[in-house]
Amino acid sequence: MERTFRRLCALYGYREIRTPAFEQADLFVRTTGPTTDIVTKEMYVFQDRGGRQLALRPEGTPPVVRAYLQHGLFGKGGLWKFYYIGPIFRYERPQAGRYRQHTQLGVEAIGSPSPRLDVEVIDLNLALLSQSGLQDISLEINSIGCPECRPSHRVALLDYIRTVEDQLCADCLSRIEANPLRVLDCKQQSCRDALSAAPEMLSFLCEECGAHFEALQNGLSELGHPYQVQPRLVRGLDYYTRTVFEVSSPSLGAQKQLSGGGRYDRLVEDIGGPPTPAVGFGAGLERMALVSPASADEQAPRVFVAAAADGQRNAAFLTAAQLRKRGIAAETDYLDRNLANQLKQASKLGCSFALLIGEEEMASGLLTLRNMKTGDQSRLSFDGIVEEVLNPKS
Ligand code: HAM
Repeated sequence: MERTFRRLCALYGYREIRTPAFEQADLFVRTTGPTTDIVTKEMYVFQDRGGRQLALRPEGTPPVVRAYLQHGLFGKGGLWKFYYIGPIFRYERPQAGRYRQHTQLGVEAIGSPSPRLDVEVIDLNLALLSQSGLQDISLEINSIGCPECRPSHRVALLDYIRTVEDQLCADCLSRIEANPLRVLDCKQQSCRDALSAAPEMLSFLCEECGAHFEALQNGLSELGHPYQVQPRLVRGLDYYTRTVFEVSSPSLGAQKQLSGGGRYDRLVEDIGGPPTPAVGFGAGLERMALVSPASADEQAPRVFVAAAADGQRNAAFLTAAQLRKRGIAAETDYLDRNLANQLKQASKLGCSFALLIGEEEMASGLLTLRNMKTGDQSRLSFDGIVEEVLNPKS
């Protein structure tokens, strides 16, 4: 999956960025949001020997934006497209598909407000999932507006929330004033029920946000991506503006969200940079692996080099090393197995070929190559073997 992701990122023009596993805790408080679960309940915070408050990164976006600012990339202008693969830490109750350390494959495209870039990011996200063999995935999108149009929604939402206040959990009650959108993201069923008729942001979008959302939908349709507009989707992070989206797989059960992302046009500015629009996504590698068909074949060595007896073990060892030098994945025996058990091991590993070395082979220099699928055997020189393994005739 990581290989697929790297290949796709090269195809779409995203370059790798590696940020440290920890950052100043304040970075996440200010960006991910002081009322989010990620910051209030899930962040691993510690003090270093210099008395600084640090946090193991609970998500990938703020560190990339911090690096973009710290290294003055905004001054160079243009669009910066980054991708990353790395560990993310969240203190959550572990269960299938939810871990205290997980791996995210993510991209951040910083510097353009174009809705076509939102479409590109979603297209890349979907390509990653489908080319990793994941089927039966669904894309949900929404727009949560901008600082222009959000205040009127906030007023309507607060008015509504006041009417159902007695049905909300303590967490929601404590967040109403600071960020009523967070209440819409509560996982408790009773809160969800109480908020089922809450006013939707989509009805409050300003002209520009409305046009952006329409362009996003047109772009997705033009690329042939089915999607559902989910007016209740707000995501669990504070920095989003306009586009938000999530991709899920129903076969994952409770933790069905494979990836999520959106536009964050204010984040760069919020941490001290110039106004800079941006969009990105993060996909959970472990969740992808849970629903991906295993691709054992890709990891199988091509050739198992087997020794007929102890006298040929070193020759087998050296031959495996030579094959690797020619770019052929090769394995040999280190457990002093007899020939029959070496061949059993070769088929257990899923090798395409076994290369047999006995006394006769040693004397003639012609080695016996067995095709593990067909059982066909031929005697070939080392170069002949390389040729046959790289371009098999059958
Ligand atoms: P997020 O939705 O919080 O977004 O996380 C992205 C993905 O990480 C989720 O869809 C899920 O697959 C995976 N994930 C999250 N928590 C866990 C966990 N505890 N165990 C296993 N997998 C998990 C973000 O983090 C944003 N930074 C995405 C983004 C990038 N938005 C814009 N750019």
